[in-house]
Amino acid sequence: MAILVTGGTGYIGSHTVIELLNNGEEIVIVDNLVNSKKTNLDRIKKITNKMPKFYKVDILNEKELEKVFKENKIDKVIHFAGLKAVGESVKKPLLYYQNNVTGTITLLKVMEKYNCKNIVFSSSATVYGTKTIECKEEMGRGETTNPYGTAKAIVEKILEDIYKSDNTWNIAILRYFNPIGAHESGLIGEEPNGIPNNLMPYIQKVAAKELPELSVFGNDYDTIDGTGVRDYIHVVDLAKGHVKAIEKLNNSNGGIYTYNLGTGNGYSVLQIIKAFEKVNGIQIPYKIVERRPGDLAKYYANVSKAREELGWVATKNIEDMCKDTWRYVQNELNGK
Ligand code: NAD
Ligand code: WQD
Repeated sequence: MAILVTGGTGYIGSHTVIELLNNGEEIVIVDNLVNSKKTNLDRIKKITNKMPKFYKVDILNEKELEKVFKENKIDKVIHFAGLKAVGESVKKPLLYYQNNVTGTITLLKVMEKYNCKNIVFSSSATVYGTKTIECKEEMGRGETTNPYGTAKAIVEKILEDIYKSDNTWNIAILRYFNPIGAHESGLIGEEPNGIPNNLMPYIQKVAAKELPELSVFGNDYDTIDGTGVRDYIHVVDLAKGHVKAIEKLNNSNGGIYTYNLGTGNGYSVLQIIKAFEKVNGIQIPYKIVERRPGDLAKYYANVSKAREELGWVATKNIEDMCKDTWRYVQNELNGK
């Protein structure tokens, strides 16, 4: 039996595929390559010695998706496919609801038709909204502030309703905090298109001298040094969380489980800059600018549920995250 990984050539998907292949799983990837490159498949092969089966398919295309289910014995799905730019979602809400909500509904319909009722869904800390500093799963969802976040909350709700209607479904909702870093081989990492919105991709471009300096969005928050605090998690730790979630589904006859995947530690923007500079021996020029609208001062994960129920904890620290990111960027610059 195979695991279908939607969005499997993307940033988190490709790292997860590596961990799954290393764990002996058979993998089928579906991705429309809207935000990733097919060459990631060769990189996956280089790292694992295995080539996952790949379909260039849009999850909105029910017929094509059905073909994938017809041609393979799929009993579990890890669903990463989606658009993820928060700012773009504010400008193009219909695109985000169509791709991220309708796309998921299409996938779920096909899964149901082929009697595949095991799914791991990529959710986000954004569903906590403005509710909290230390986010705990049992607090439930808060008020989301953009269509990207609302789409994640809607999909979580859809999954809950599906489980209510048929409790033979086995569903793991994983709420990621701030994934950064790259595979330690330096072959796979995050490759943002254009000018990045997120912190680490922007630091990458400044380090590579593709952008002159980082803008730090506000230094008057009620935090350790006035800059925003987030729970950054190494993408390989995150990927390993998915292997644990699959194990959880394997040992369950039906259920819906929600887990935070973070480290439980918060770091400020200035702490990230300093760590990156220190471990890589490189300067990151920056200037303080206005706060970014919609940003919260500080939030991080409570990770006890994932630790207790999945036996999963993040093992990599901020230094690893900064070192691995820079190794990947250097490899890319050298054309490897
Ligand atoms: P990514 O853009 O690198 O990967 C997403 C992949 O999905 C891409 O390869 C893209 O080509 C593909 N895709 C998008 N729409 C598709 C469609 N309609 N049909 C088929 N393929 C499609 O993003 P990522 O950072 O790897 O994120 C993976 C998932 O995790 C997303 O659902 C994202 O919302 C979620 N998430 C990401 C973060 C983060 O900060 N990176 C945080 C929380 C949650
Ligand atoms: C981190 C910190 C910024 C850029 C977003 C999404 C969230 C999730 C993860 C998907 C903040 C500061 C940033 C810059 C800066 N994605 N910053 N200068 O906003 O915590 O979360 O990605 O689910 O939904 O909203 O991440 O990396 O954009 O920002 O000072 O150029 O870095 O203000 O404090 P964020 P981020």
